Amino acid sequence: PRNHHQWQSGSTPEQNPLTSQTLSTRKELYERDFPLYKQPVEVGCFSLDAQRRFFNDGRQMRYYVEPDKNPNFDLRDGYEDRYVKRDESVKEKLDHILRWILANRLKLKSKASSHALDFDFVTWRGHLTKLLTTPYETRDGWLLAVTKFKDTLYISEVETEAARRDRENRPEWNHKMMYWGYKFEQYMCADNAHGLPDSSGVVNTNEAFCTVVQTRLTDHKLLFSGEVDCRDKDPSVPPPACYVELKTSAEICTPKQRSNFHRFKLLKWWAQSFLPGVPRVVAGFRDRDGTVVSVDTFPIAKVSQLIKNEPNCWKPTVCMNFTCDFLSFLKRIATEDNPSVVYLVSWEPLKDVTYSVHRDSCFSFLPLWYVEAMGS
Ligand code: A3P
Ligand code: MG
Ligand code: MG
Repeated sequence: PRNHHQWQSGSTPEQNPLTSQTLSTRKELYERDFPLYKQPVEVGCFSLDAQRRFFNDGRQMRYYVEPDKNPNFDLRDGYEDRYVKRDESVKEKLDHILRWILANRLKLKSKASSHALDFDFVTWRGHLTKLLTTPYETRDGWLLAVTKFKDTLYISEVETEAARRDRENRPEWNHKMMYWGYKFEQYMCADNAHGLPDSSGVVNTNEAFCTVVQTRLTDHKLLFSGEVDCRDKDPSVPPPACYVELKTSAEICTPKQRSNFHRFKLLKWWAQSFLPGVPRVVAGFRDRDGTVVSVDTFPIAKVSQLIKNEPNCWKPTVCMNFTCDFLSFLKRIATEDNPSVVYLVSWEPLKDVTYSVHRDSCFSFLPLWYVEAMGS
């Protein structure tokens, strides 16, 4: 076998990863030692209520309730009459995180002798999840808007044309299946540590509890926020170790289904929870008509063992090394410190990452209230 590390990663000037204006996403280029990823630390949280209003507190936190050995959750219940769906055409960009930053500036460490934040990157966890899975993604591309402001790079997703078309033409069965995931959460969570789930209530997807964590990937200092489904009742376990991610998946009946679950589902589950240090995913397996028939816990630390014997499988180190190199790429290209300049970074499967620069365009996303409060 040829040595791709030696001559595919950059013997020509165009492909030198330290000078190139593009970035390859080929997984072979990222198979090296696992990069340093510091244990994520929760620095705060916020909540979005039933009207999607921001609160600088944990009022929307929910508590995990251990299910019955033989569950029988009907995920279809309430779709027609007890469902309030968030308006996905409203693009919130980084606004909630920026609001949280302004409300918590004093407790966030600032760089000495300036009011700047001591972070290289501010973004949503979900955007980082997409980066982690990019070397293995064959269907969906992405578009990220990046702005450098006071030495911090803000990363905000822009919906691709294809994603907008899909969203606007989503078939009814797809809408129903999206509801199933939220309904499962309702069967598994209580509103307080001593309560029980109430499956007779309304499912409102405007409501969210979000953790804000800081961590470091090699030399990249990160601040990001992600939605958390629920926490362990035991108050002695501190966040983010107490958090539980809930998922639903089709029942696994054949070896082929098991293999696909390992190769595709577990990649997304691992990436999403590993980033903020959420230690476990609790999965509800549903039959074809949307009844959860079994529930299983997947400790994130054990996922790499689960997939070890799977041929052609994804590797955590490739995900993390690609993301690390991508963040270095952003630092190299996004040089102008200006809140109205956007570096629009785009990727489509089978292609390299490319970018274009936009001044005072519709892509600018840092709101005036944030720029002014941070002092320009
Ligand atoms: P499942 O996780 O059971 O699929 P999350 O798991 O991130 O907490 O999201 C909760 C639910 O939102 C998901 O339940 C799914 O129903 C819906 N959802 C989240 N991201 C989605 C996406 N990209 N496309 C479709 N549905 C999505
Ligand atoms: Mg969630
Ligand atoms: Mg979930």
